[in-house]
Amino acid sequence: MIEIKNLVKNYDNTSIKYSDYKIEKGDFVSIIGPSGSGKSTLIDLIVNFITYSSGNIYIFDKEISQYRRKEKNILMKRLGIMSSNSLLLSDLTVIENIKLPQLIHKNQIEESHMSYLINKLNIENLLLKYPMSLSTGQRQRVLLARAMILKPDILIADEPTSNLDSENTNNLIKCLVNLNHELKTTIIVATHDKVVSNASKRIFQLR
Ligand SMILES: Nc1ncnc2c1ncn2[C@@H]1O[C@H](COP(=O)(O)OP(=O)(O)O)[C@@H](O)[C@H]1O
Ligand SMILES: [Mg+2]
Repeated sequence: MIEIKNLVKNYDNTSIKYSDYKIEKGDFVSIIGPSGSGKSTLIDLIVNFITYSSGNIYIFDKEISQYRRKEKNILMKRLGIMSSNSLLLSDLTVIENIKLPQLIHKNQIEESHMSYLINKLNIENLLLKYPMSLSTGQRQRVLLARAMILKPDILIADEPTSNLDSENTNNLIKCLVNLNHELKTTIIVATHDKVVSNASKRIFQLR
C-alpha cells in the first residue's frame, strides 16, 4: 500500500535518510525513533505532499509526485489522518465535527459505520457536547472517529497518545487494535510510546 525507497528529506540544517520500507494491507506499523529522527516528517511526506529531496514514495502503487490534483482528493479520502494539527472546531458539536469529512469530500456517511465507530470508541454520551468540554482522552477518541468516518484504507496518526495518561492510552490502543482487526484498516502510527509500539504488528525503527 505504501512503499518508500531511497527516501531523503533535506531541511536547511538537517538531512533525514530513511531505510527502504514497505507497508502492506492490514498492517499495523509503529514508526519509532528518538525525537528529531524524522517520524513526523515521514508522515508529512505522505499526507501533506511536502516535497522530498530524493527517492520515491509509492501510495497505492503510484509514485506520490504522479498524483494529479483531482487524484489527490481521491487519495486523501482513502487516508484517515490524526496529526498534531488535527483540531476540532469549537463552534461545532462532537457529532458535527465527526461528520465534517462528509462535507469536505461530499461523501455520504454510512449510518451503520457511524454507529459502529460511536460504539467502539465509546463516545455516545459525548455527541452533543462541544470540544471545549472534552477531556484530552475524549478528544483523541473523537479525532479518531472523524479520521475513520469515511472508512479510509489507511489510518495515519502522529503521536496519538502523547498527552494521555495510561488509562486513556490503553483505551486508545484498544480502539486502534480493534479497527485494525475488525475493519482491516491499515494503521501507521508515529510514537515514542512503548505501549503503542508493543500493540502494533511491526516496527519501523528510525535512527
Ligand atoms: N519545517 C521544518 N524546517 C526545518 N527543519 C525541520 C522542519 N521539520 C522538521 N525539521 C527537522 O527535521 C528533523 C526531524 O524532525 P521530526 O520529523 O519532527 O522528528 P520526530 O517527529 O521524529 O521528532 C529535526 O531535526 C527537525 O528539527
Ligand atoms: Mg514528531
